[in-house]
Amino acid sequence: LSEASNGAIGNVPTQVADVNQTSPELEKWVDEVPRPSVLKPDGRKKGKSYYEVDMRQVEQQLHRDLPPTTVWGYEGQYPGPTIETKRGEDVYVKWKNNLPEEHLLPVDETLHGTGPDVPDVRTVTHLHGANVEPESDGGPEAWFTQNFEEVGPTFEKKTYWYANEQPSTSLWYHDHALGITRLNVYAGLAGFYFIRGKHERALDLPDGKYEIPLVFQDRTFNDDGSLFYPSGPDEDEGEPNPDPSVVPEFFGDTSVVNGKAWPRLTVKPRKYRFRMLAGGNSRFFNLKLFQYDEETQTIGDPGPTMTQIGSDGGFLEKPVEISDRLLLGPAFRADIIIDFSEYEGQSLLLHNNAPSPFSGVAGEDPDDVQPLPEIMLFDVQEKGCKRDKSCIPKRLARVPEINPDNAVEERELPLVEGVDEYDRLKLLLGTRESPNGLNWDAPITEDPKVGTTEIWDLINTTVDTHPIHLHLVQFQVLGRRPFNVDQYNADRESGSVGPISDYCTGELEPPAANNRGWKDTIDADPGYVTQVIAHFGKFKGLFKDFTGEYPWHCHILEHEDHEMMRPYEVLPREDGDNLFPNPLVAK
Ligand code: C2O
Ligand code: CU
Ligand code: CU
Repeated sequence: LSEASNGAIGNVPTQVADVNQTSPELEKWVDEVPRPSVLKPDGRKKGKSYYEVDMRQVEQQLHRDLPPTTVWGYEGQYPGPTIETKRGEDVYVKWKNNLPEEHLLPVDETLHGTGPDVPDVRTVTHLHGANVEPESDGGPEAWFTQNFEEVGPTFEKKTYWYANEQPSTSLWYHDHALGITRLNVYAGLAGFYFIRGKHERALDLPDGKYEIPLVFQDRTFNDDGSLFYPSGPDEDEGEPNPDPSVVPEFFGDTSVVNGKAWPRLTVKPRKYRFRMLAGGNSRFFNLKLFQYDEETQTIGDPGPTMTQIGSDGGFLEKPVEISDRLLLGPAFRADIIIDFSEYEGQSLLLHNNAPSPFSGVAGEDPDDVQPLPEIMLFDVQEKGCKRDKSCIPKRLARVPEINPDNAVEERELPLVEGVDEYDRLKLLLGTRESPNGLNWDAPITEDPKVGTTEIWDLINTTVDTHPIHLHLVQFQVLGRRPFNVDQYNADRESGSVGPISDYCTGELEPPAANNRGWKDTIDADPGYVTQVIAHFGKFKGLFKDFTGEYPWHCHILEHEDHEMMRPYEVLPREDGDNLFPNPLVAK
């Protein structure tokens, strides 16, 4: 395996087979990375901050030499404005759909949740990573059209309520409408949402203009500047006539950071805090800084190392120095400190080296995956400014461990490939009883009780890594175990699959140091059972108890739209439920 893979990464998915579009040639590093604006409240509701956020279609200049691109943006901005909140202070947000009647991108009406009777332009905003009531979660069927004229089957309210009783972190909001999430997000519907606690200020981290959110995305453009997205299957007189060769993933050929293509960021020779988000549809990022000669366009020695201080759901206990590359799967966030003080006057390239499918070696198989080695440039200015008073504290936060001995349930959840009624590949999540996978519509199979702890075994039987995301909770990663996929799949197909422990071929490998904090999305690698542990409710002064239905799914947006998504339900506690001692420990 290459240095990039470090033995810790599986395979990234293969490219959409019919993408042969390439973007117009654009000069790199000409535009400065913009900073998303910060949203101001529109007033108060029940004594709390109240925001209204309007989704609109606008034209935006994504590169100096590219004609303006028509995008969809929250408040008419791509990426959307950042919502800044305080931990412990709840807020209200009314998400409004003021998009045009017609979709910006080709809708595939054969996908679940779409069709001739369903409006093409529908949206619902999900706050990713939020510990939130189900009515405000923004689930896939809670969509609505312009002015709420039509609403989806699980639509409940126009104004969402966010409790903010979870650790300080970077959440992000994005569209989640069933069957078209990949298109709505690709069109531009995503933005940051920060929760900040008092404790965070005391840490003396770089702040103000030295704290910068960075959302990494990939896009492909047509010559006229419009967004390219491959169209779905042809329709022949209303009958779907799909092309079975279409593999549901999309990779763009252009790096777009905070809405600018191939940008540069001018920095001072000091420490910065970057709130990073992998916000592409399918792409994994695997990042490292190198010294770069702009004249000759050559990559030199490694640049400054990155120090990770936070993951998806909050601060890590201690800073983790990323010794090689920082892996960001779709929807992952990383809170990163970079110290540029030793690099005065230099250019640094943020280099991406995600391994290609099957080989595990970056760039070896360019036909299978569209590599995107260059992400952005950092330009370190000469001369220091004022003294850099920020620091990287030795201890950041307490991350209370969810104890596996308290788990009342361990669920075996295979990730499998299937075919849909048109013989196209679809991706499914299954259970021990239904190891060949269940559709989004099948009855709920995962139903933890509020206030209990469960272990979920993500059994990846496919050849790709799937970034699996649970709504509502922040979980912890126990690790992963290799298992005999061929035997498991053979038994699965013959209908006689046994307990997963029968197939495991090795011990539990602990998670990487930067995955030992709060996570809401985790890369489940092929050939491994990835174990996560979640507590569904209040936990040591963090989070709140919520009951109701939430989705869990693969965060490759194309997979999510191809059925790799299931509902789960947090059940209320009943009188007489005895949660301790729990049955697993008793055994
Ligand atoms: Cu970021 Cu259900 O999603
Ligand atoms: Cu989410
Ligand atoms: Cu997937």
